[in-house]
Amino acid sequence: MAVEIVAIPGGESSKSSATYLEIVGVLDAFAVDRRNEPVIVVGGGAVMDAAGFAASTYRRGVPFLNVPTTLLAWIDASVGIKTAINYGHRKNLIGTFAAPMAVLLERRFLASLPERELASGMGEVLKLGIGCDYRLFALLEDLPEAVVFDQRFQSGGLEILLDAIDVMIRELSSNIFEAELCRAIDLGHTFSQAYEMAGRHDALPHGEAVALDLNISCSIAQRRGLLTEREVNRVTAVTQKLRLCRAIPELDTRELWESLIERTTHRGGRQRVPLPCGLGACVFVNDLTWDELEAARGDVLDHFGL
Ligand SMILES: NC(=O)c1ccc[n+]([C@@H]2O[C@H](COP(=O)([O-])OP(=O)(O)OC[C@H]3O[C@@H](n4cnc5c(N)ncnc54)[C@H](O)[C@@H]3O)[C@@H](O)[C@H]2O)c1
Repeated sequence: MAVEIVAIPGGESSKSSATYLEIVGVLDAFAVDRRNEPVIVVGGGAVMDAAGFAASTYRRGVPFLNVPTTLLAWIDASVGIKTAINYGHRKNLIGTFAAPMAVLLERRFLASLPERELASGMGEVLKLGIGCDYRLFALLEDLPEAVVFDQRFQSGGLEILLDAIDVMIRELSSNIFEAELCRAIDLGHTFSQAYEMAGRHDALPHGEAVALDLNISCSIAQRRGLLTEREVNRVTAVTQKLRLCRAIPELDTRELWESLIERTTHRGGRQRVPLPCGLGACVFVNDLTWDELEAARGDVLDHFGL
């Protein structure tokens, strides 16, 4: 069987038109059979997004399989049906909805992940626990730190990952093409882009940016009476255990607000900001103010002693 390997680096820089055209060029030179020669995408979320986009658009779509190699791609990128590249300084502006033929999970890939990538993946599990499923949040509270950072899921912890994937599938399946723009899985994805795209500050990995956003959202929720102080403290404790929010780039409220404005455009012109309402559920608000955001940003810096 003929195989052609295209190696592309991980990281946001690969979600570019140049990488996209490079992959398309290889598919074209290989003269890939439109139905019988699937593209096998092995990599993290960035590689999966760029290669999935190339496969889903070449000749209007050739089949592809996903083999996620990062924790973030296990929990999130490989579960849904979205592919994308970035445009300008904005993430995921060009992309498709396209389902892989299958997703193959091999936990040995997780063994070589740097600590920061493990933490980043756990940021998405935390989101699902806070916004969608209290039982998952409670499991996270009980999860020994060593299972994540020492054992790297090689001898335990698989159940919590599979539970998180089940919760993600449950949330996605009734709204797979996002006809409904109020999505609980968007929790943690309103202000996070400000932390994630390289600008004048150091860009954070996706799950770290999501964790910061989650904590800002929890603080806003507490100020609105949707979460108790004890619940917020529980979120802070799990965030710390998962080694998230250890360094916070110096972003001012304006940059977070600009991220909200961009998300508002993406969400059909209304804020639709998910906020936790108790642990394990969300409400959506359209009246978030600058002052609330500024206060919550200050709370998060205090909570993490920064
Ligand atoms: N399409 C979706 O639904 C979806 C969902 C969530 C996130 N994403 C996207 O995923 C991207 C982030 O994903 P990511 O964190 O997996 O990024 P990534 O693909 O950039 O990988 C992160 C780093 O880990 C390295 N790496 C990959 N596998 C490894 C392994 N097994 N051992 C050691 N190092 C390894 C990569 O080379 C890279 O340096 C973002 O662009 C985000 O927008 C997409």
